[in-house]
Amino acid sequence: MSGDVGGDAVVEARNLQRTYEIRRGMFRAPAQLRAVGDISFRIERGRTLAVVGESGCGKSTLARMVALIEKPTAGQLTLVGHDAVDPPSERRRELRQAVQLVFQNPYGSLNPRKKISAVLEDPLAINTALGKPERAAKAREMLARVGLRPEHANRYPHMFSGGQRQRIAIARALMLEPRLLVADEPVSALDVSIQAQVLNLLADLQAELGLAYLFISHDLGVVRHIAHDVLVMYLGHAVEQGPKARIFARPLHPYTQALLASTPGLSSQRIVLKGELPSPLNPPSGCVFNTRCPHVTQRCREERPLLRALDERLVACHYAEKFLDGTPPVSADVPLSPPFVAPLAMNP
Ligand SMILES: Nc1ncnc2c1ncn2[C@@H]1O[C@H](COP(=O)(O)OP(=O)(O)O)[C@@H](O)[C@H]1O
Ligand SMILES: [Mg+2]
Repeated sequence: MSGDVGGDAVVEARNLQRTYEIRRGMFRAPAQLRAVGDISFRIERGRTLAVVGESGCGKSTLARMVALIEKPTAGQLTLVGHDAVDPPSERRRELRQAVQLVFQNPYGSLNPRKKISAVLEDPLAINTALGKPERAAKAREMLARVGLRPEHANRYPHMFSGGQRQRIAIARALMLEPRLLVADEPVSALDVSIQAQVLNLLADLQAELGLAYLFISHDLGVVRHIAHDVLVMYLGHAVEQGPKARIFARPLHPYTQALLASTPGLSSQRIVLKGELPSPLNPPSGCVFNTRCPHVTQRCREERPLLRALDERLVACHYAEKFLDGTPPVSADVPLSPPFVAPLAMNP
């Protein structure tokens, strides 16, 4: 989210929504599950938008829509200046090449029977007219770029560590020279020391190639290293969105405050949220966060707060002004531990 002026947006989403129909048996109408409520953002060349929130808040659904794997139920998506929701058929290939996806699990996403050379060359064989020698040369070049050695080309995925496999997945995603990389929890399955290496690689590649990133993570500690802008999601809705520096320095939504407080090393404050994450099949009325908010009032239960501009970001809280001078104490009896974010479920 960088405002509406200047820069060339690689991707722009307006009011993106995705609803799933959940069947409940023969005699009942299907339920509507709103996985993504109403999300808008733009990402420019060389910039990273990080989407954060607990498991189940709709991050992967958003990632799949932006990566053109799944169609939005409503809203607009513009990629490299073109409509990406219903593009004319002659434009489809160009758009599919402009955005590539990297998944959390590099074990599942690489075909175990293919050598790395084939993993990297196949996208070129399918989508370009390059001959075998040029494809092999490009694959070697890309291997070097992601920090692997030429002899790795002849090995199979199982011969690599998790971090190396994620480097290979990134290399494969870059073979068709995309403009946007959608990375869904790309380092969540890796050891912390390896995470930093892969994040550094992503940052270097972005600087070299001018890539735009949509970076999905449940971990604000990771987001702090990689993001320029942040979009905080809760139950399919954006609750706070704007420049990382503003949001980390002074979170204005109580959910962002709680997320920051639960991330080691980011806050001295502890906030423990009561209650469970509500079911997206039965979201609370009013503010989606009201059942767990330490500052909830009757107004929050009745009236949904809209995203509005305040202090150089967007925030959806009726009382955000209260937090401009820092987070007020929640209440005297807030327990000190454990942090409210239970071990997050790994995404498939
Ligand atoms: N294909 C699907 N059919 C039905 N419900 C889905 C589907 N994909 C995701 N959901 C639901 O949408 C919500 C958001 O899921 P997801 O986007 O995977 O969240 P996250 O990536 O943040 O964990 C969840 O409640 C999930 O159960
Ligand atoms: Mg997910």
